Amino acid sequence: MIALPDFPWDRLAPYKELAQAHADGIADLSVGTPVDPVPAVARKALAAAADSPGYPQTHGTARLREAAAGWLRRRHGVTVDPADVLPTIGSKELVAWLPTLLGAGRGDRVVIPELAYPTYDVGARLAGAEPYAVDGLVAVGPERVPLVWVNSPSNPTGRVLPAEHLRKVVAWARERGAVVASDECYLELGWEDHPVSVLHPDVCGGSHEGILAVHSLSKRSNLAGYRAGFVAGDPVLVKRLLEVRKHAGMMVSAPVQAAMAAVLDDDEHADEQRGRYARRREVLRPALERAGWRIDHSTAGLYLWATDGTDCWDQVRGLAEKGILVAPGDFYGAAGRAHVRVALTATDERIDAVVRRLQ
Ligand SMILES: Cc1ncc(COP(=O)(O)O)c(C=O)c1O
Repeated sequence: MIALPDFPWDRLAPYKELAQAHADGIADLSVGTPVDPVPAVARKALAAAADSPGYPQTHGTARLREAAAGWLRRRHGVTVDPADVLPTIGSKELVAWLPTLLGAGRGDRVVIPELAYPTYDVGARLAGAEPYAVDGLVAVGPERVPLVWVNSPSNPTGRVLPAEHLRKVVAWARERGAVVASDECYLELGWEDHPVSVLHPDVCGGSHEGILAVHSLSKRSNLAGYRAGFVAGDPVLVKRLLEVRKHAGMMVSAPVQAAMAAVLDDDEHADEQRGRYARRREVLRPALERAGWRIDHSTAGLYLWATDGTDCWDQVRGLAEKGILVAPGDFYGAAGRAHVRVALTATDERIDAVVRRLQ
């Protein structure tokens, strides 16, 4: 049996109950799940593709791959051949299985950020490999590792890795034959910083060798419920992933592929959603600061990484007593023990309730 960590959210259940007992109800800023409507452009495309009796293509339709390549070019200055795009069943699925799909296993260490989305760790374990949570690659020394994960903007900290930092990671990995997988699911949510893709020429020098960028439509287009993501990059690696995924039945349903293509072609709904998060962030951040919290990093992404200097679970309890549920920083690594992660994913009405309760 592979030893998996306890599912962390179960530990938050008593605080959820406490927050739910608030007279005006819970304001849940813990899980970063979208609460705004699925854009009309997605629903229309999904409905139009409802009559899909045949098996979908694991590689995705040409229409979808062209839309993904078009979006990367238009919004992020990245040029990829549509052949080097591969749809995934949301990005969590790929994060969890990438080490396995790449053939990592016993004796390998997969490098993950010190403060990170927990699924990088789980993915290493599912492959029988070991997660190695470290930010500075110097600490890895001469060891050969199969895979290095980066995540910018970061969940949970909202930190952005500048192009120069990413360039060094890519150079380091290429020297050692390691794959760099860059989780870019918050790439369009830059606030004070402008996030850059690992596939941008400023980072990779124009070659995608050894690099994969992982994207998600969950947050950009409120498609978390559809399970819609894709991976793009090194043609050889994408081909290898495609081969295994075909055998393993890891394919995105045809109606979801149609919805993905439609939202990737459309920026209007994404800008509108970005505006909603920007407004929520503008009221939540000063409200937390006035109430005694310091916000660290958080220059991009969907979260405020906040601390009042006490243990994260004391902060979780104090906020739950006000009916506000947040995630304790230690869910993301021991270095998060003095922080809480505050998600921007609540309705304007609930965000306003939080602001009132913090006064
Ligand atoms: C850093 C990061 N990667 C991946 C995911 C998974 O997203 P999805 O599976 O919805 O695409 C999340 C979800 O919150 C995340 O925060």
